[in-house]
Amino acid sequence: MDGARLTAAEGIAAPASPAPPKIHLRDASKRFAGLRGGTPTLALDRVSLEVAEGELVCLLGPSGCGKSTVLNLVAGFETPSSGSVTVDGRPVGAPGPERAVVFQQPQLFPWLSVLDNITFGPRMAGVPERVYRPEAERYVRLIGLTGFERHAPYHLSGGMRQRAALARAWIGNPRVLLMDEPFAALDAQTRLTMQELLLGLRRQTGTTILFVTHDVDEALFLADRILVMGSRPGRVTAEIRVPSSDARDVDGFLDDPVLMALRRDVVRLVREEARKAHAHQPNS
Ligand SMILES: Nc1ncnc2c1ncn2[C@@H]1O[C@H](COP(=O)(O)OP(=O)(O)OP(=O)(O)O)[C@@H](O)[C@H]1O
Ligand SMILES: [Mg+2]
Repeated sequence: MDGARLTAAEGIAAPASPAPPKIHLRDASKRFAGLRGGTPTLALDRVSLEVAEGELVCLLGPSGCGKSTVLNLVAGFETPSSGSVTVDGRPVGAPGPERAVVFQQPQLFPWLSVLDNITFGPRMAGVPERVYRPEAERYVRLIGLTGFERHAPYHLSGGMRQRAALARAWIGNPRVLLMDEPFAALDAQTRLTMQELLLGLRRQTGTTILFVTHDVDEALFLADRILVMGSRPGRVTAEIRVPSSDARDVDGFLDDPVLMALRRDVVRLVREEARKAHAHQPNS
């Protein structure tokens, strides 16, 4: 029987073993060696978290609590010192095209045009131009860069560059998108446009997204679930489920008393973690 089995007692169909979480950290710790024999840093201490297929989870917390380290473990840029990190139930070994990463500073090749940057992945993978070209043109339209395809990145504003980076990440149809404060350097209006673009793309593709931010409003606007992290050592200290994240719009968001109450709670949690982190500073 496909995907279900009959329970002997009741004779009803029950689902077979559920699909593993898309992203799963189990007691993952990360210790970085100290520089020149200095004290090592325990960046993550037995962090466990799960992200389900198609879910958008935000990691929120004070500077240095290990948010980027979590992302780097899932991306395969780092390996855990102990514990495990799996995607689709398989241990993450190395970076792979099914896990795209978008950083705070758009990582575009300065010598390539916008279009060549966007199509870099498929071209390197040997995808024929007749396949990737229409896709690239669709993304260029979607991100509002029509007319700028032949421009070099240094001719674009920061927001335009970040849009190109998002299209480059998206064109490979990644099943997992890892975003490390991707909109932090943008002005408020561009940030909002980018957030709406991200939610729109995600609705179309069902991509699983792990998103790092410092910004409580951004987390509430985007996330299905927020994981608050604390530092020294980095760990997850609270989990907040955000109601009705589908078809969000920013005005409705600001008018929603449930979300605004949640916002107060999240701000309090983050402030508390920041206060604790500050109290642990050697010179505080
Ligand atoms: N490659 C590395 N070598 C040594 N220590 C590191 C390395 N990467 C991170 N760390 C340390 O691990 C801890 C967590 O760093 P991480 O960059 O994950 O924090 P973060 O939450 O992303 O901070 P921010 O919000 O400032 O970006 C910090 O104390 C940092 O100094
Ligand atoms: Mg970081």
